[in-house]
Amino acid sequence: MRIDVFTIFPEMVDEFASHALLGKARVNGLLDLRVHDLRAQTTDVHRTVDDTPYGGGAGMVLMAEPLFAAVEAVDPPRPLYYLGPAGRPLDQAFARELAGLGEQGSGGFSLLCGRYEGVDERVRTHLVDGEISIGDYVLAGGEVAAMVVLEAVGRLVPGVMGNDTSAGDESFGEGSGGLLEYPQYTKPAEVRGLAVPDVLRSGDHGRIDRWRRAEALRRTIERRPDLIERRGGLTAEDERLLAEFPEP
Ligand SMILES: C[S@@+](CC[C@H](N)C(=O)[O-])C[C@H]1O[C@@H](n2cnc3c(N)ncnc32)[C@H](O)[C@@H]1O
Repeated sequence: MRIDVFTIFPEMVDEFASHALLGKARVNGLLDLRVHDLRAQTTDVHRTVDDTPYGGGAGMVLMAEPLFAAVEAVDPPRPLYYLGPAGRPLDQAFARELAGLGEQGSGGFSLLCGRYEGVDERVRTHLVDGEISIGDYVLAGGEVAAMVVLEAVGRLVPGVMGNDTSAGDESFGEGSGGLLEYPQYTKPAEVRGLAVPDVLRSGDHGRIDRWRRAEALRRTIERRPDLIERRGGLTAEDERLLAEFPEP
């Protein structure tokens, strides 16, 4: 899987992605991450990439020409996505789609980070193929958004996570049925008088699976009723599980 990132702060992204899961994936050759400086093709002494907006207004805008030149010099894997608040919201399904690009076409995708007031509109209309937003708020730059995409997608690339099945089971995972994840516990069995639910220590795996499902349902009903609606409400089996494991 190849992912190219264009930014005026290449060290920021490169450093982030040299740790933990992403760092290991790069060392193992599972993730070919290339971070490029948007100033790379500038020729003036200040390596200028921004200028004031036409029509007036606060702040600076990243200029089209240096951005076109930086991308063309590399010919990165496409699609190339601009990170911005007007983009398609990133969710787990979108992350899965992006991870799937590793096995198609150019073998990956690319990300373009904005800064200041954003990029010249001609970059959006004639250089990039799409836009990604990481949420309904405004960041100071696209780098953190790129890191979010890298981490959400990187862990879905086959082989990157130690146990491939865990991505399916967790919140929003394909195996979760569109639910949030059930509560997790680890050792010791009691902490400050707080005990692990007996069922998890029962050794009865059928009952553990049903308990987990009931807890995932309960948590999703409480915290994200929109996810329950999206899957068409509760089934008779869901109701049965909730009744089998009533709230303590
Ligand atoms: C201060 S923002 C510019 C916001 C722009 N003036 C607007 O109102 O849409 C600077 C950069 O941060 C990045 N950014 C900000 N919010 C983002 C979000 N929610 N998702 C992804 N990138 C974001 C974009 O790359 C953007 O060019």
